[in-house]
Amino acid sequence: MVSSNNHTSTSTNTTAYVIGDCDVSCMKLWLVFGGIVVILLMLALYLCVPALFRPRRRRLSTWIEDAKSRKKDVTTDTYKRAMEYIRTHDPNDALPSTEKQHDILNTKGYTAWEFVRSGNSEVTNNGRWVEFFFKSTEIKKESMIQTNYPFFNPRKDIEHEEIMHYFEVTVKKMSKQVNTIAIGLTTTPYPYFRLPGYHENSVAYHSDDGRKFHNDSDGGVSYGPTWGKGDTIGCGYRPKNGEVFFTKNGEDLDVAFRVLQHTWYPSIGTDGSCELEVNFGDSDFKFKHARGFGPGSPLLSEHHKSFVALI
Ligand SMILES: *[C@@H]1O[C@H](CO)[C@@H](O)[C@H](O)[C@H]1NC(C)=O
Repeated sequence: MVSSNNHTSTSTNTTAYVIGDCDVSCMKLWLVFGGIVVILLMLALYLCVPALFRPRRRRLSTWIEDAKSRKKDVTTDTYKRAMEYIRTHDPNDALPSTEKQHDILNTKGYTAWEFVRSGNSEVTNNGRWVEFFFKSTEIKKESMIQTNYPFFNPRKDIEHEEIMHYFEVTVKKMSKQVNTIAIGLTTTPYPYFRLPGYHENSVAYHSDDGRKFHNDSDGGVSYGPTWGKGDTIGCGYRPKNGEVFFTKNGEDLDVAFRVLQHTWYPSIGTDGSCELEVNFGDSDFKFKHARGFGPGSPLLSEHHKSFVALI
Protein backbone atom coordinates (compact mmCIF):
# COMPACT_ATOMS: atom_id res chain seq x y z
CA MET A 1 0.00 0.00 0.00
CA VAL A 2 2.62 2.52 1.08
CA SER A 3 4.93 1.79 -1.73
CA SER A 4 2.03 1.81 -4.10
CA ASN A 5 0.89 5.24 -2.76
CA ASN A 6 4.38 6.59 -3.02
CA HIS A 7 4.69 5.31 -6.48
CA THR A 8 1.39 6.88 -7.48
CA SER A 9 2.28 10.26 -6.02
CA THR A 10 5.73 10.20 -7.57
CA SER A 11 4.37 9.35 -10.97
CA THR A 12 1.69 12.07 -10.64
CA ASN A 13 4.36 14.58 -9.65
CA THR A 14 6.56 13.48 -12.47
CA THR A 15 3.72 13.84 -14.97
CA ALA A 16 2.90 17.32 -13.75
CA TYR A 17 6.54 18.29 -13.77
CA VAL A 18 7.07 17.03 -17.31
CA ILE A 19 3.94 18.73 -18.61
CA GLY A 20 4.89 22.01 -16.94
CA ASP A 21 8.44 21.90 -18.21
CA CYS A 22 7.41 20.89 -21.72
CA ASP A 23 5.69 24.20 -22.29
CA VAL A 24 8.90 25.95 -21.45
CA SER A 25 11.10 23.69 -23.55
CA CYS A 26 8.63 23.90 -26.43
CA MET A 27 8.87 27.64 -26.29
CA LYS A 28 12.63 27.36 -26.17
CA LEU A 29 12.55 25.02 -29.11
CA TRP A 30 10.31 27.43 -31.03
CA LEU A 31 12.65 30.27 -30.22
CA VAL A 32 15.63 28.28 -31.47
CA PHE A 33 13.75 27.24 -34.61
CA GLY A 34 12.53 30.77 -35.18
CA GLY A 35 16.05 32.07 -34.79
CA ILE A 36 17.39 29.54 -37.29
CA VAL A 37 14.66 30.37 -39.78
CA VAL A 38 15.31 34.11 -39.47
CA ILE A 39 19.05 33.59 -39.91
CA LEU A 40 18.45 31.37 -42.96
CA LEU A 41 16.05 33.90 -44.45
CA MET A 42 18.55 36.70 -43.99
CA LEU A 43 21.27 34.54 -45.45
CA ALA A 44 19.03 33.69 -48.42
CA LEU A 45 18.17 37.35 -48.96
CA TYR A 46 21.80 38.32 -48.69
CA LEU A 47 22.83 35.73 -51.27
CA CYS A 48 19.91 35.94 -53.67
CA VAL A 49 18.86 39.56 -53.93
CA PRO A 50 22.04 40.78 -55.61
CA ALA A 51 22.01 37.64 -57.73
CA LEU A 52 18.55 38.53 -58.97
CA PHE A 53 19.86 41.73 -60.45
CA ARG A 54 23.41 41.13 -61.59
CA PRO A 55 25.12 37.76 -61.45
CA ARG A 56 21.97 35.87 -62.39
CA ARG A 57 21.88 37.45 -65.83
CA ARG A 58 25.32 36.19 -66.51
CA ARG A 59 24.33 32.80 -65.21
CA LEU A 60 21.28 32.76 -67.48
CA SER A 61 23.28 33.66 -70.55
CA THR A 62 25.87 31.03 -69.67
CA TRP A 63 23.04 28.56 -69.34
CA ILE A 64 21.71 29.56 -72.77
CA GLU A 65 25.18 29.17 -74.25
CA ASP A 66 25.43 25.74 -72.67
CA ALA A 67 22.04 24.73 -74.02
CA LYS A 68 22.99 25.98 -77.48
CA SER A 69 26.21 24.03 -77.61
CA ARG A 70 24.39 21.01 -76.25
CA LYS A 71 21.84 21.37 -79.03
CA LYS A 72 24.58 21.67 -81.59
CA ASP A 73 26.25 18.52 -80.32
CA VAL A 74 23.01 16.60 -80.43
CA THR A 75 22.30 17.90 -83.93
CA THR A 76 25.72 16.90 -85.20
CA ASP A 77 25.20 13.53 -83.58
CA THR A 78 21.79 12.92 -85.12
CA TYR A 79 23.07 14.21 -88.45
CA LYS A 80 25.74 11.53 -88.43
CA ARG A 81 23.19 8.93 -87.36
CA ALA A 82 20.87 10.01 -90.16
CA MET A 83 23.62 9.85 -92.80
CA GLU A 84 24.48 6.36 -91.60
CA TYR A 85 20.79 5.42 -91.71
CA ILE A 86 20.49 6.67 -95.29
CA ARG A 87 23.71 4.92 -96.30
CA THR A 88 22.35 1.62 -95.04
CA HIS A 89 18.72 2.00 -96.17
CA ASP A 90 18.12 2.30 -99.90
CA PRO A 91 14.94 4.18 -100.80
CA ASN A 92 12.09 1.87 -101.68
CA ASP A 93 10.45 3.40 -104.74
CA ALA A 94 8.10 0.48 -105.28
CA LEU A 95 4.43 1.34 -105.61
CA PRO A 96 1.66 -1.10 -104.80
CA SER A 97 0.86 -3.11 -107.95
CA THR A 98 -1.59 -1.45 -110.35
CA GLU A 99 -4.14 -4.08 -109.33
CA LYS A 100 -3.67 -3.23 -105.65
CA GLN A 101 -3.90 0.49 -106.42
CA HIS A 102 -7.22 -0.04 -108.19
CA ASP A 103 -8.37 -2.19 -105.32
CA ILE A 104 -7.44 0.44 -102.73
CA LEU A 105 -9.17 3.21 -104.66
CA ASN A 106 -12.25 1.08 -105.37
CA THR A 107 -12.81 -0.12 -101.85
CA LYS A 108 -11.66 2.72 -99.63
CA GLY A 109 -10.71 5.68 -101.78
CA TYR A 110 -8.93 8.47 -99.90
CA THR A 111 -9.93 6.90 -96.59
CA ALA A 112 -7.25 4.24 -97.21
CA TRP A 113 -4.48 6.74 -96.46
CA GLU A 114 -3.43 6.91 -92.81
CA PHE A 115 -0.48 8.23 -90.89
CA VAL A 116 1.38 5.47 -89.06
CA ARG A 117 2.84 6.05 -85.61
CA SER A 118 6.59 5.89 -85.05
CA GLY A 119 9.11 7.34 -82.60
CA ASN A 120 7.57 9.97 -80.30
CA SER A 121 4.11 9.89 -81.82
CA GLU A 122 0.66 8.47 -81.34
CA VAL A 123 -1.88 8.32 -84.14
CA THR A 124 -5.64 7.92 -83.71
CA ASN A 125 -8.90 8.56 -85.60
CA ASN A 126 -7.98 6.39 -88.62
CA GLY A 127 -4.55 7.91 -88.96
CA ARG A 128 -5.90 11.47 -89.00
CA TRP A 129 -5.14 12.74 -85.50
CA VAL A 130 -1.41 12.90 -84.84
CA GLU A 131 0.15 13.56 -81.44
CA PHE A 132 3.84 14.02 -80.86
CA PHE A 133 5.12 13.95 -77.30
CA PHE A 134 8.58 14.72 -76.00
CA LYS A 135 9.89 14.83 -72.44
CA SER A 136 11.24 18.22 -71.36
CA THR A 137 14.68 16.59 -71.16
CA GLU A 138 14.60 15.55 -74.81
CA ILE A 139 16.52 18.55 -76.09
CA LYS A 140 16.47 18.98 -79.82
CA LYS A 141 15.16 15.48 -80.34
CA GLU A 142 13.15 15.14 -83.53
CA SER A 143 10.59 12.70 -84.78
CA MET A 144 8.72 12.23 -88.04
CA ILE A 145 5.92 10.07 -89.39
CA GLN A 146 4.75 8.95 -92.81
CA THR A 147 1.57 7.53 -94.27
CA ASN A 148 0.91 3.86 -94.99
CA TYR A 149 0.75 4.50 -98.76
CA PRO A 150 2.55 6.91 -101.07
CA PHE A 151 0.74 9.12 -103.58
CA PHE A 152 -0.30 7.13 -106.61
CA ASN A 153 -2.48 7.32 -109.63
CA PRO A 154 -3.23 4.04 -111.44
CA ARG A 155 -5.14 5.80 -114.22
CA LYS A 156 -2.46 6.03 -116.87
CA ASP A 157 -4.94 7.55 -119.33
CA ILE A 158 -5.42 10.62 -117.17
CA GLU A 159 -1.79 10.98 -116.23
CA HIS A 160 -1.32 13.91 -118.58
CA GLU A 161 -4.21 15.86 -117.21
CA GLU A 162 -3.51 18.31 -114.42
CA ILE A 163 -3.38 15.60 -111.78
CA MET A 164 -2.59 16.65 -108.27
CA HIS A 165 -2.04 14.75 -105.06
CA TYR A 166 -2.84 16.73 -101.98
CA PHE A 167 -3.37 16.68 -98.20
CA GLU A 168 -3.75 19.29 -95.46
CA VAL A 169 -2.64 19.39 -91.84
CA THR A 170 -4.03 21.70 -89.15
CA VAL A 171 -1.98 22.50 -86.05
CA LYS A 172 -4.41 22.00 -83.15
CA LYS A 173 -2.05 22.22 -80.17
CA MET A 174 1.53 23.31 -79.97
CA SER A 175 3.59 23.32 -76.77
CA LYS A 176 6.17 26.04 -76.11
CA GLN A 177 8.79 23.34 -76.47
CA VAL A 178 8.12 23.15 -80.23
CA ASN A 179 10.72 24.89 -82.31
CA THR A 180 9.72 23.53 -85.72
CA ILE A 181 6.90 21.60 -87.29
CA ALA A 182 7.75 20.34 -90.78
CA ILE A 183 5.16 19.23 -93.31
CA GLY A 184 6.17 17.71 -96.59
CA LEU A 185 6.99 14.59 -98.54
CA THR A 186 9.57 11.88 -98.04
CA THR A 187 10.51 8.59 -99.61
CA THR A 188 10.64 5.49 -97.47
CA PRO A 189 12.47 4.52 -95.39
CA TYR A 190 13.37 7.93 -93.98
CA PRO A 191 15.40 8.48 -90.78
CA TYR A 192 12.37 8.76 -88.47
CA PHE A 193 14.43 10.83 -85.95
CA ARG A 194 14.97 13.69 -88.43
CA LEU A 195 12.66 16.35 -89.84
CA PRO A 196 11.41 16.00 -93.41
CA GLY A 197 13.41 18.22 -95.75
CA TYR A 198 16.79 17.62 -94.14
CA HIS A 199 17.83 14.68 -96.29
CA GLU A 200 17.82 13.34 -99.82
CA ASN A 201 14.43 12.53 -101.30
CA SER A 202 12.55 14.69 -98.86
CA VAL A 203 10.96 18.12 -99.05
CA ALA A 204 9.23 20.20 -96.40
CA TYR A 205 7.88 23.59 -95.40
CA HIS A 206 9.02 24.53 -91.88
CA SER A 207 6.86 26.43 -89.38
CA ASP A 208 9.45 28.45 -87.47
CA ASP A 209 11.01 30.32 -90.38
CA GLY A 210 8.63 29.65 -93.30
CA ARG A 211 11.51 28.23 -95.30
CA LYS A 212 11.48 25.31 -97.70
CA PHE A 213 13.87 22.42 -97.34
CA HIS A 214 15.11 19.80 -99.76
CA ASN A 215 18.15 17.70 -98.85
CA ASP A 216 19.15 20.64 -96.67
CA SER A 217 19.78 20.45 -92.93
CA ASP A 218 21.51 23.79 -93.05
CA GLY A 219 18.82 26.46 -92.99
CA GLY A 220 16.65 25.95 -96.07
CA VAL A 221 15.59 28.53 -98.64
CA SER A 222 13.25 31.49 -98.19
CA TYR A 223 9.73 30.52 -99.26
CA GLY A 224 6.56 31.50 -97.35
CA PRO A 225 5.23 32.92 -94.09
CA THR A 226 5.84 31.28 -90.72
CA TRP A 227 2.98 29.27 -89.23
CA GLY A 228 1.77 27.68 -86.02
CA LYS A 229 -1.24 26.85 -83.90
CA GLY A 230 -4.53 27.21 -85.78
CA ASP A 231 -2.94 27.24 -89.22
CA THR A 232 -3.73 24.73 -91.95
CA ILE A 233 -0.81 23.78 -94.15
CA GLY A 234 -1.41 21.97 -97.42
CA CYS A 235 1.11 20.02 -99.44
CA GLY A 236 0.53 19.16 -103.08
CA TYR A 237 2.37 17.26 -105.76
CA ARG A 238 1.86 17.42 -109.52
CA PRO A 239 3.42 14.21 -110.88
CA LYS A 240 3.54 15.44 -114.46
CA ASN A 241 6.36 17.92 -113.81
CA GLY A 242 7.42 16.66 -110.40
CA GLU A 243 6.22 19.89 -108.80
CA VAL A 244 5.74 20.26 -105.06
CA PHE A 245 3.82 23.22 -103.68
CA PHE A 246 2.45 24.27 -100.31
CA THR A 247 -0.56 26.24 -99.14
CA LYS A 248 -1.28 28.14 -95.94
CA ASN A 249 -4.91 28.47 -94.85
CA GLY A 250 -6.05 27.83 -98.42
CA GLU A 251 -3.64 30.25 -100.06
CA ASP A 252 -1.30 28.86 -102.72
CA LEU A 253 2.31 29.68 -101.86
CA ASP A 254 3.48 28.74 -105.36
CA VAL A 255 5.70 25.95 -106.59
CA ALA A 256 8.46 25.15 -104.10
CA PHE A 257 10.31 22.46 -106.07
CA ARG A 258 10.30 21.21 -109.64
CA VAL A 259 11.41 18.00 -111.32
CA LEU A 260 11.28 15.91 -108.18
CA GLN A 261 9.65 12.70 -109.30
CA HIS A 262 9.64 10.21 -106.48
CA THR A 263 7.37 7.76 -104.74
CA TRP A 264 6.30 10.36 -102.19
CA TYR A 265 4.81 9.69 -98.76
CA PRO A 266 2.96 12.50 -96.96
CA SER A 267 5.11 13.31 -93.91
CA ILE A 268 5.04 15.34 -90.70
CA GLY A 269 7.94 15.96 -88.33
CA THR A 270 8.56 18.05 -85.24
CA ASP A 271 10.85 18.59 -82.25
CA GLY A 272 8.25 19.24 -79.53
CA SER A 273 4.91 18.10 -78.20
CA CYS A 274 2.02 19.03 -80.49
CA GLU A 275 -1.26 17.76 -81.91
CA LEU A 276 -2.26 17.89 -85.55
CA GLU A 277 -5.33 16.99 -87.56
CA VAL A 278 -4.92 15.57 -91.03
CA ASN A 279 -7.33 15.95 -93.93
CA PHE A 280 -6.93 13.60 -96.89
CA GLY A 281 -10.15 14.85 -98.42
CA ASP A 282 -12.36 13.77 -95.52
CA SER A 283 -13.68 17.33 -95.44
CA ASP A 284 -13.39 20.20 -97.93
CA PHE A 285 -9.81 21.32 -98.41
CA LYS A 286 -9.11 24.96 -97.53
CA PHE A 287 -7.26 25.18 -100.83
CA LYS A 288 -10.24 25.21 -103.19
CA HIS A 289 -8.35 24.04 -106.29
CA ALA A 290 -7.47 20.81 -104.53
CA ARG A 291 -11.07 19.90 -103.83
CA GLY A 292 -11.83 16.69 -105.68
CA PHE A 293 -8.27 15.52 -105.28
CA GLY A 294 -6.52 13.66 -102.49
CA PRO A 295 -3.52 11.42 -101.94
CA GLY A 296 -4.65 9.18 -104.79
CA SER A 297 -6.21 11.39 -107.39
CA PRO A 298 -8.80 12.36 -108.35
CA LEU A 299 -10.69 10.81 -105.50
CA LEU A 300 -13.16 12.89 -103.69
CA SER A 301 -16.98 12.76 -103.73
CA GLU A 302 -18.45 13.20 -107.24
CA HIS A 303 -15.01 13.05 -108.75
CA HIS A 304 -14.35 9.90 -106.82
CA LYS A 305 -17.57 8.23 -107.92
CA SER A 306 -17.17 9.06 -111.58
CA PHE A 307 -13.51 8.13 -111.38
CA VAL A 308 -14.29 4.74 -109.85
CA ALA A 309 -17.04 4.19 -112.43
CA LEU A 310 -14.45 4.65 -115.15
CA ILE A 311 -11.95 2.11 -113.80
C1 LIG B 1 22.24 16.06 -100.95
O1 LIG B 1 23.14 16.89 -100.27
C2 LIG B 1 24.43 16.35 -100.14
C3 LIG B 1 25.25 17.28 -99.27
O2 LIG B 1 25.04 18.61 -99.59
C4 LIG B 1 25.03 16.16 -101.53
O3 LIG B 1 26.31 15.60 -101.41
C5 LIG B 1 24.12 15.24 -102.32
O4 LIG B 1 24.59 15.10 -103.65
C6 LIG B 1 22.70 15.76 -102.34
N1 LIG B 1 21.84 14.81 -102.99
C7 LIG B 1 20.90 15.14 -103.87
C8 LIG B 1 20.09 14.02 -104.41
O5 LIG B 1 20.67 16.29 -104.18
